[in-house]
Amino acid sequence: MGDEQTMPYPYEFYNISDEEKSLNEKLHAYPYEFLRVGPKGYLVSKIFKTDAANIYNLPLRSSDIFVTSYQRSGTTWTQELVWLLASDLDYEKALSTPLIERYSFLEMFMNVPDTGIDGFMKALSQNSENFDKESMLKMIKWLGSPITGDLATRPSPRFIKSHLPMSLLPRNLLDTAKMVYIARDPRDVAVSYYHHTRLFMHTGFKGTFKEFWHLFHGNLMVLTPYFEHVKEAWEKRHDPNMLFLFYEDLSKNLPAAIHRVADFLGKKLNDAQTAALCDHLSIENFKKNKAVNFEEFRAFGMLAKNEEFVRKGKTGGWREYFDEEMTQQAEKWIEDNLKDTDLRFPSTN
Ligand code: A3P
Repeated sequence: MGDEQTMPYPYEFYNISDEEKSLNEKLHAYPYEFLRVGPKGYLVSKIFKTDAANIYNLPLRSSDIFVTSYQRSGTTWTQELVWLLASDLDYEKALSTPLIERYSFLEMFMNVPDTGIDGFMKALSQNSENFDKESMLKMIKWLGSPITGDLATRPSPRFIKSHLPMSLLPRNLLDTAKMVYIARDPRDVAVSYYHHTRLFMHTGFKGTFKEFWHLFHGNLMVLTPYFEHVKEAWEKRHDPNMLFLFYEDLSKNLPAAIHRVADFLGKKLNDAQTAALCDHLSIENFKKNKAVNFEEFRAFGMLAKNEEFVRKGKTGGWREYFDEEMTQQAEKWIEDNLKDTDLRFPSTN
């Protein structure tokens, strides 16, 4: 893998406008370079281009399980649920092996800024009192390397995480592999994503939530346009190899969601097993669970002191962040985008 030229790729990459560029630069501590790709114009960091065709042409296996989403929609929660069900409830392994090792994160490499390791270190400098530079460099190299080559050597079943929309994922994925997609009310996604960009020091978002909201619903955050992302998956929801979930449904009735995922994976659970899984997946236990809460990055100075990866875990928390103007903008934005589809978020019914 790694030969960008020879792999067929159906989409064009193109530059973002100068106005978009300056908005982004103003609000980010880190100078990511962005491009747009394909007819929907998804925003990707420039280095995505180096492995995009390998991702698109990735050889798949019938045992592959993908967990995908627009980021901050409940991916980690879903990953843990899917992994445990597919692995016959092996809690011992789940608690002892970080989720980032149990899943291959398809486009993780594009989150490491294109200006290289020095820039990355600089972006972390304000948080860098105690970390070990050598292990940090190793970690960044690992995070910043495309994984399509490595995936070929992975034993089955392969668990793959991605925030890419369907059209940028391996072509004909649903003809071969299984996918669980999770969607969430975009207002809660925006709030959660805002905290996420503050948590990971290298993304270093400097602005207010209002400014973040402007970028998010204006399609200036990574992998927006948000609604195109969700709609692509929604259109495939009846495919036997696709399970489409809403964060709000997991929140409201986790046992029912667990049974839907179990049915999809051909697994059966009794009441005691379901109760134990609900307990394991509760927000309180997730916060304490070192295998899923990404706290290992703290030792590398990558995480802001006052932020956490597993945060509130609530639906409707956006109300505390949106003023009247943003609330109206959001309503109109959601209404406009739902006009041509029967997609409805449980929270907007
Ligand atoms: P909040 O920031 O609104 O709390 P992702 O894994 O896609 O990045 O999504 C992260 C969101 O899922 C965060 O939302 C996080 O708190 C929430 N989440 C993670 N684990 C959860 C759990 N066990 N129960 C409920 N929500 C959870």
